[in-house]
Parts: sequence; C-alpha cells; structure tokens
Amino acid sequence: MEIVLTGKGGPEMLRVDDRKAPRPGKGEVLVRTEASGASFAEVQMLRGRYPMQPGFPFVPGYDLVGRVVEGEGFRPGQRVVALTRTGAWRDQVVIPAKIAVPIADDVDPGVAAAVAMNGVTAWQMLHETARVRPGQTVLVHGAAGGVGSLLVQLARLAGARVIGTASAAKHDLLRSLGAEPIDYRKGNVAAEVRALAPNGVDAVFDHVGGKSLDESWGLLAPGGVLANYGSAGTLLDEGHPLRPYVGTVRRLAWWQLRRLFGLTRGRKAAMYYVKPGPGFAKALTEVLRLVSTGELTPHIDRRLPLTEAAQALTLLTTGQATGKIVLEAAVH
Ligand SMILES: NC(=O)c1ccc[n+]([C@@H]2O[C@H](COP(=O)([O-])OP(=O)(O)OC[C@H]3O[C@@H](n4cnc5c(N)ncnc54)[C@H](OP(=O)(O)O)[C@@H]3O)[C@@H](O)[C@H]2O)c1
Repeated sequence: MEIVLTGKGGPEMLRVDDRKAPRPGKGEVLVRTEASGASFAEVQMLRGRYPMQPGFPFVPGYDLVGRVVEGEGFRPGQRVVALTRTGAWRDQVVIPAKIAVPIADDVDPGVAAAVAMNGVTAWQMLHETARVRPGQTVLVHGAAGGVGSLLVQLARLAGARVIGTASAAKHDLLRSLGAEPIDYRKGNVAAEVRALAPNGVDAVFDHVGGKSLDESWGLLAPGGVLANYGSAGTLLDEGHPLRPYVGTVRRLAWWQLRRLFGLTRGRKAAMYYVKPGPGFAKALTEVLRLVSTGELTPHIDRRLPLTEAAQALTLLTTGQATGKIVLEAAVH
C-alpha cells in the first residue's frame, strides 16, 4: 500500500494504491513502516511549492519509524528512524542503509515520528545554529506547530524565556508549554515583541521567510542569531518555487557582508535545512533521550491511519492542527 500524490491541488489529490512488497538491493534496507509524520512540507508539495519536489505523481512522506524486514547490517525487527524527504507514506519502504538510524525498541513509534524530523530540526537550530544559553530570550514563530511546539519546549529546557507566535485559538497550548503568546494574525508582531523584550531577543526562529526576515532581523539584540528554516509566508505565491529562497539568500548574503565589516552589532543570520547523516543521528539520540526521561513531551494533535493521510493534510491546510499529526501504518 502507498499514498500517491497525483498532482497539484488539495488533499483530494492523494490516492491510496496497492503495491507489491519491494525487495532491497545492495546497500539498502527494507523497513515495515510503523509511523510517519504529516508536515508543512507536504502542504507545500500539494501546491507544487516545495523546492526540489519530484514531478507528479509521487509518494510523499518526509520521515518514517519502522522495523527492519531485511537489509545488510541490520537485525530483522530492529526499529529505525529515517529522513526520506519523500516516499515514506508506504507500508513497506526500501531506504538506503546509510540513512537508517537505529533507535531503542521500547519507544512508542508515534512519539518517535513526532520528534524525528521535527525534533532534530528544533534541537539543531537551538543548540547548533543559535547556541541558545540560559537566561536568553528567544522568539519562536509558528510556536504551536510541529517544529514550533518542540522548539518552545527545548528552549525552555535550555533555560530561555520564550515568546511565541500562533493563532489566538492556540495560545493556551503555548502558555502550557511555557511561552508568552503573540497573535501573528492581528496586530503588529514586532511592536508586541518589543513591548515584551525592549532590548531585543537573542534568537529568532523564522519559518515564515520573505519580508518576515527583515522584521526578525530588526528584533535581534546585539550578538543575536536569526535562524531561517522555511518560507510558510510564500505558500500562496505564484512563480517558481525557488524564487522566495533567492530573496532569502540575497538577504543573508547582505547581512553576512555587513557582519564582516562589523556593521551588524554582532548579529548574524543563517539558513537551516535538516539532512540525514551523523549529525541527524546524534541530535535524534539526544531528543529521544529527553523524551525517555520525560523532559520533552511532543504534542501530538492526533494519530490517524496512514490511509487517512488526506485528512491529515486537510487539518494542516485549514490550520486546525496543533503540534504534530502522526500517521500510523497498520501492522500485519
Ligand atoms: N529547514 C528545515 O530543515 C525544516 C525542517 C522541518 C520543517 N521546516 C519548516 O518548518 C515550518 C513548520 O513545519 P511544521 O511541519 O512544524 O508545520 P506545521 O505543524 O504545519 O506548523 C506550522 C505553523 O506555522 C504557522 N504558520 C503558517 N503560516 C504562517 C504564516 N504565514 N505566518 C506565520 N505563521 C504561520 C501556523 O500557525 P497557526 O496554526 O497558529 O496559525 C502553524 O502552526 C514549515 O515552514 C516547514 O517548511 C523546515
């Protein structure tokens, strides 16, 4: 079984297809999927706006948690996580062995799926891009989303004060996670952040992109870091999907040039993109450790059968989800 995205449009463009179980080749592993995530990346793919997405039709699915069926270097039944970008929404998936990260057997696969791509993204941006320290103040855009809700929790664990933007209906969640909420849909976000943090913030995590980056840059305190990791604000734009990123790269290059001449008061900006490899495995291990000790609890909006992926994307595209929607495959 696999979920095929047949073309540009809405969630109705997803189709459930039958498929014979594949066999792994050399350097590959066959994994029986237990869970995968639904994310903003698939929302962008629906609209043909995800940079470098394959041509239609294709099978989406950015990450997966599952058990190894067969493959060199792995024991059958071993639980693994993999960052696939596409192709994970299948009940059985062949992946390159080098992207399969073994994880403990006793982890709830749905919880692991909620922190796979999202937890690593949040952890790496917080600890490697922005290097947030205790006592600092950070601004998290999209703080009620899959990545955002983990960023808030990880930043609080790191001892930071957190200001978060979200729709008003999601402010109780933000408060329960320890963030001070701002409604980005009405009012002036920059003015509200300045009222809460008159000296600026030490880090901004900005997935909105476009003009939001200029505002985020302007909110940084001396020495602060702007981490850009998405372009949610340009979802409805027309034109080539890479166009918004050209604007982003231009901005980052300009700020970097000014920084070299000592003109940014120590502020810097960076673009973050999650990728498989040793860094992913290291961050995932740390995030799962925090989950196992109970220090980090991903907010799972709901768990749906993988065959209901279209409903997951309906919830995401209509802004009805908070935290993460996890898709679970039927276990045969
Ligand atoms: N660079 C990377 O490696 C990487 C990795 C993972 C994710 N991402 C990016 O991270 C972002 C979040 O992904 P996700 O899967 O966590 O998404 P998600 O669960 O759908 O959450 C996205 C949140 O963003 C908010 N939002 C949507 N449009 C917005 C806009 N125009 N302005 C301000 N806020 C807006 C929504 O807030 P409300 O619901 O409160 O309205 C929503 O809660 C996406 O942009 C995604 O592309 C990047």
